[in-house]
Amino acid sequence: MRNEGWGEVDRSTKPQSYIDYLRGVSALDSVQEFKRKSLELMGVRPGDTVLDVGCGAGDEVVALARMVGESGHAVGVDMSETMVAEGRRRAADAGVRADFKVGDAQALPFEDRSFDAVRIERTLQHLPDPDRALRELRRVCRPGRRVVALDPDWGSLVIDSEDEEMTRRLIRVHASHVAHGQMGRELWRRFGDAGFEDRVVECVIAHSTSFAVADAVLGLRETVDEAVRDGAINPVSADHWLDGLRAADEGGRFFAALSGFIVGGRAP
Ligand SMILES: C[S@@+](CC[C@H](N)C(=O)[O-])C[C@H]1O[C@@H](n2cnc3c(N)ncnc32)[C@H](O)[C@@H]1O
Repeated sequence: MRNEGWGEVDRSTKPQSYIDYLRGVSALDSVQEFKRKSLELMGVRPGDTVLDVGCGAGDEVVALARMVGESGHAVGVDMSETMVAEGRRRAADAGVRADFKVGDAQALPFEDRSFDAVRIERTLQHLPDPDRALRELRRVCRPGRRVVALDPDWGSLVIDSEDEEMTRRLIRVHASHVAHGQMGRELWRRFGDAGFEDRVVECVIAHSTSFAVADAVLGLRETVDEAVRDGAINPVSADHWLDGLRAADEGGRFFAALSGFIVGGRAP
């Protein structure tokens, strides 16, 4: 869930579970900070026309609609009909005017230079061709205005476990099940390669001291199942590792953290 299937939410037997997952992630203070910083970096002004690519359930489109005000225009685009429908619902509930469209980040359905600011959150990591998407984001952004991308870096995951070797192995499995599991650290370079100017970077560390929260957001049990399926670990050691984390949680000793990176650049 946290890693796979994001390119085909509509084909899932449980599309609502993706929306539920996004809600759980958004509930974390550190994720709210991640989102807030990215919105600030966009340099949005009242009256602007702005775009959120891979907008998911649409909360940031609603936030952008408030930032640009009545004279502006906020647009969300997502590959998934389920997400676009949820975005429309949330905008209506929030009483803001915003448009949502189904579309591919790698071939955006918009004219050149049609937006004053563009963002893409936790989506580049899942795309077959993230560089093509960045070139598309640059194409639709007006010269001198900003494109902002944010992604975690799954290679930066830390989990305080007594079994360090097993933890390292599981973190590798975890990252390998995302198309671009180290997108966070690659954003700076990819923005440069895509021709963005005046690049800026911000870092956020999300942490959890609760096994239940970390499991829901990071998919710890799911990763263990994947590692067993991949043959990277045996089921007995897998259970032992998870039991160790649960025991740590009961003793108030559980800790996990993940780094997220935000990169912004001006369209030339
Ligand atoms: C992890 S979610 C992030 C959603 C949202 N940006 C957020 O931060 O809450 C990834 C989103 O990218 C969308 N997505 C996946 N592939 C896409 C593509 N090729 N073009 C546009 N959106 C895509 C998914 O439908 C999903 O809504």
